[in-house]
Amino acid sequence: MNKREVLLKGTNVTKVFGHGKKKTIAVSEVDFAFHRGEIISIVGESGSGKTTLAKMMMGLLKETSGNIEYLGKPRQLKTYAQRKAYWKDIQAIFQDPFSSFNIFHKVEKLLKDCIKLQGLKLSKKEQFEKMKEACSFVNLKFEELYNKYPFELSGGQMQRLMIARIFMLHPKILIADEPTSMIDACSRSTILDMLLKLRDENQMTIIFITHDVGLAYYVSDTLYIMEKGKIVESGPAEEIIISPRHLYTKQLISDVPKIHEEWNLA
Ligand SMILES: Nc1ncnc2c1ncn2[C@@H]1O[C@H](COP(=O)(O)OP(=O)(O)OP(=O)(O)O)[C@@H](O)[C@H]1O
Ligand SMILES: [Mg+2]
Repeated sequence: MNKREVLLKGTNVTKVFGHGKKKTIAVSEVDFAFHRGEIISIVGESGSGKTTLAKMMMGLLKETSGNIEYLGKPRQLKTYAQRKAYWKDIQAIFQDPFSSFNIFHKVEKLLKDCIKLQGLKLSKKEQFEKMKEACSFVNLKFEELYNKYPFELSGGQMQRLMIARIFMLHPKILIADEPTSMIDACSRSTILDMLLKLRDENQMTIIFITHDVGLAYYVSDTLYIMEKGKIVESGPAEEIIISPRHLYTKQLISDVPKIHEEWNLA
């Protein structure tokens, strides 16, 4: 397996919302190239365009201009079959877990749907084993949760359930938009560890989207720094933290006063 293989590549990707006076350029001429098994963080403050960019990567929003290539070919999402095939390979965890689930489905159905999505034909017992395994990967007990609706779970349980689904679907690319915002610091590091384990076991490419440059440095190989719709700086995480070139990156880093001590860069 070629680790430097480019999975997802964007050139001049732009998204404009609205017209005339109400026009917002949410994402402006962004270039990116994400490799197999790479962990990337897109860092920027609120409103900088991170979620809009993520939605275009997912194919949930159409870019106003620019190109996105998947596995070296222009991405095709016109037909249902093309979208279904693409979404088998690229999955996302969004800020609000409720938006990722059908809230009228119980946990058991949410997990069974992953087996269905993969087109696997399994016996009842095999399905049960698979769902149980996915739950135990994220420290949830299937027996306690299978009969519950998403709104009966805590924020942390819901986010772990989302990761259990990712474990079952094992996509090539996972986009995690502020996956840790709803939970306390302790479960936060557990969730991050689970995601890193998924990368190590499956060579998954993970794209983290966050405000937190310290966290981004901790988890990623590569950083993309986003300001007002533009990527102002990108490159290996360590290089950027040790010698940021752009003023905005310097500001982001100085907003985290302890980053140099915490990550032993003093
Ligand atoms: N559907 C939409 N219609 C109009 N404007 C939008 C829409 N979605 C986002 N925007 C605007 O685009 C800009 C970027 O928004 P986006 O949600 O991508 O930012 P973000 O970096 O994810 O912010 P946060 O960190 O707060 O989640 C903002 O100015 C926002 O108001
Ligand atoms: Mg966002």
